[in-house]
Amino acid sequence: MTLQLTKRPRRNRRSATLRALLQEHHLSLNDLVMPLFVVEGEDIAQEVASMPRIFRYSLDRLIAECKELWALGIKAVVLFPALEDALKDKYGKESLNQQGLYQRALRAVKQAVPEMLVITDVALDPYSSDGHDGVVEQGEILNDVTVEILAQMAVSQARAGADIIAPSDMMDGRVKAIRQALDEAGFTQVGILSYSVKYASAYYGPFRDALDSAPKAGDKKTYQMDSANVREAAIEVALDIEEGADMVMVKPGLAYLDVVRAVAEVSSVPVAVYNVSGEYAMLNAAARRGWLDYPKVVTESLLAFKRAGADLILTYHAKEYAQWLKQG
Ligand code: PBG
Repeated sequence: MTLQLTKRPRRNRRSATLRALLQEHHLSLNDLVMPLFVVEGEDIAQEVASMPRIFRYSLDRLIAECKELWALGIKAVVLFPALEDALKDKYGKESLNQQGLYQRALRAVKQAVPEMLVITDVALDPYSSDGHDGVVEQGEILNDVTVEILAQMAVSQARAGADIIAPSDMMDGRVKAIRQALDEAGFTQVGILSYSVKYASAYYGPFRDALDSAPKAGDKKTYQMDSANVREAAIEVALDIEEGADMVMVKPGLAYLDVVRAVAEVSSVPVAVYNVSGEYAMLNAAARRGWLDYPKVVTESLLAFKRAGADLILTYHAKEYAQWLKQG
């Protein structure tokens, strides 16, 4: 029998050509930012235990990696330093060292691959003996004291060649302070990508392994957002834009696609999403057991970010996705 239907949505899915013609959202290498970890030393590439194929690179290997990424079509990276404990202290002083590992890494990458867009991380945790994103006093994470250090850190990174400064700390007022400090130092062209909506999440576990930066005491719930909330995302975004953010970010990604959508709807600046370490670890763990078709679930996940409204995606899958495209 033939049903009397005037609407048959399947008509639009009949062939690959038709489906391609009607595809609403697209993934492009132009949207992807690859996070990279840097360590002191020479010829070092230490794989992060919970993140297959993600390494901590010494400077020489970092440069080689950036060249490879550029050749593959990945044009933006975000760098994180893994420091030895001896360099960590309460105020994260090493973060201001112009000869420090991070600043040397920035100069090296910008020199080797000048067109690579280099995004830097501003927060205390890689440098903090307390493993927190701010200065800790009697168990409290101090806001205003921390913001002062963050502003200096941003200037130090700009001086070393950062194109975009990305504060990931969630202190109040840091975007304003960073913008002002950058401008006063003459870096009016250096942008700010604010981690505006960053949740206190267990999905950061593998990242903290990579940097050995887990909090020594307590958790990050007095500064990072409660995962049960979405309303305050709008406040954080509005404040950051008012304070001078050029782009805002939601983090983590996959468990927060509703938040990405909510932010995309209210933001007047581009929206980024961070597809975090725990999300990368989950897909890899399942793939290793043969439980998921890895390239397919990765592609599906990345597309989900675009569908939710993200303009750019920070993702550990960036390189492999580019490789798959190249292989066809
Ligand atoms: C800390 C920072 C974190 C990540 C980026 N910057 C972890 C945290 O807030 O504890 C997580 C990234 C990831 O999990 O991939 N400033």
